[in-house]
Amino acid sequence: MHPFKRIGIIGCGAMGRGIAQLFASAGIPVLLHDSRAQAIGQALAYNRQQLERLASKGKLDAEALGVALACQQAAPALADLAGCDLLIEAIVEQLEAKQALFRQLEALGGIDAVLASNTSSLSIGAIASGCQNPERVAGFHFFNPVPLMKIVEVVRGERTAPEVIERLSRLAERAGHYAAVTPDSPGFLVNHAGRAYGPEALRILAEGIATPAQIDRILKDCLGFRMGPFELFDLVGLDVSHAVMASMHHQFYQDPRYAPSPLVPPRLAAGLLGRKSGQGFYRYVDGVQQAPEPVPDAAVALTRPFWLDSRDPSVREQVASVLGRAGVCLEEGPQPSERAICLVTPLGEDASTLIARKLLPPQRTLALETFAGFERRRVLMRQPALDAEVLAQARTALAGDGVAVEVINDSPGFIAQRVLASIVNLGCEIAQRGIADPQTLDRAVQLALGYPHGPLAFGDHHGAELILQILQGMHEAYQEPRYRVSPWLRRRVQLGLPLTAPE
Ligand code: NAI
Repeated sequence: MHPFKRIGIIGCGAMGRGIAQLFASAGIPVLLHDSRAQAIGQALAYNRQQLERLASKGKLDAEALGVALACQQAAPALADLAGCDLLIEAIVEQLEAKQALFRQLEALGGIDAVLASNTSSLSIGAIASGCQNPERVAGFHFFNPVPLMKIVEVVRGERTAPEVIERLSRLAERAGHYAAVTPDSPGFLVNHAGRAYGPEALRILAEGIATPAQIDRILKDCLGFRMGPFELFDLVGLDVSHAVMASMHHQFYQDPRYAPSPLVPPRLAAGLLGRKSGQGFYRYVDGVQQAPEPVPDAAVALTRPFWLDSRDPSVREQVASVLGRAGVCLEEGPQPSERAICLVTPLGEDASTLIARKLLPPQRTLALETFAGFERRRVLMRQPALDAEVLAQARTALAGDGVAVEVINDSPGFIAQRVLASIVNLGCEIAQRGIADPQTLDRAVQLALGYPHGPLAFGDHHGAELILQILQGMHEAYQEPRYRVSPWLRRRVQLGLPLTAPE
């Protein structure tokens, strides 16, 4: 297996210049070409500035700086790339443009030159379809900014030669990137796995369960995400995110698992794209998000005892301790007394279903999330029959130790449970379809999307059996195939295996 000796990059935008910086920093000669001549000089100047900044911070010594700069050269004409054994395109995301370029490159490159595309959404097979030697074509999908995002998807088209995948993977590793090998399927690996977090949050918003800011706060505090889904939509641009969702839904033949949200088109028409248009789900003033933590409601007098449906001793202890600090008692009896405020702790069920199933009094029963994040942010779930005074007392009592309390509307799986279950279920489906093995999937998602755990490890961390129960509750509540359980998840729970257990 011979390593690549000279790399040609076509398209010197955000991605092309980043790819050039990455490989030049690994000491591999890189030639940069762009159909706009000035783009080449701009990319070289930008990379010089980036590398010099790293050197000034002491992250690059003088010798490494010299090598990285010397390894990047301009290729004003496409023909200048003739001696390269790897040609990576990062031009405009249009199939016809990429196909035309690949035909030219094939004629230009040596007999063994590998042609790689940085496409994020087009099929590698379709790009290769006009080539004489499609076995030399592969996807090489980097993330922005390339030098910092230490992962690349190496996409295996139906006709790509195994040796090409192997050589690209070794090259990525030599430059310090994790090579996630994946077949040519819609969204490849990472964009596919990312189709649960934001879309499920939009579904929660569309049902009027909570506001975008509440959903963001809950997912950050209760599950450990660095950014909330709506902050992320605003950062990426809702137009860009929606296009990915719509394209994946189309490519999976309208599978409701990937359905985009009808909330989005009117927002796009209104120009609410996110940071770049000054307003998205949040407003931005001088680039700063305007999302003040809400002022808590005024405390009310606590006049009633509480009763908790959970018999789990650790949950009872936690809740009793918080209520105790607020000066109210938790009843011990198997049934609530006449005046007690009843707290239920559903898993995957909504409050209404649990109240009906357990014959509890609807006017004084509400749900408390105890599955995730009780210590950092509490979530109370009301239902349409709840008495306002009961809600006010519950809110005051649960905030007794100073932890913020969010009140949301009835939802099967609150917010954290259902978003987590959706991520895990989609990860299981990806593993089931052989799009990635468990290890590759989890590592790729952590590196590319910054999730606190990969989808499968996330499920194991919280308990695969509980995730299955949450999904079954959601599926029962909505009766939609969107929430159908992946066989990978069901089988591993049935067999007592971790979700990371391979097929
Ligand atoms: P960009 O718009 O910043 O840069 C594209 C460059 O390609 C421009 O300089 C343009 O002049 C040049 N170009 C266009 N057609 C050309 C042609 N036929 N021959 C030579 N040069 C040509 O775009 P960006 O963001 O760098 O994206 C490039 C590719 O990478 C696209 O396929 C995109 O989908 C993909 N990608 C982008 C990511 C991102 O976050 N921006 C992430 C991952 C993939």
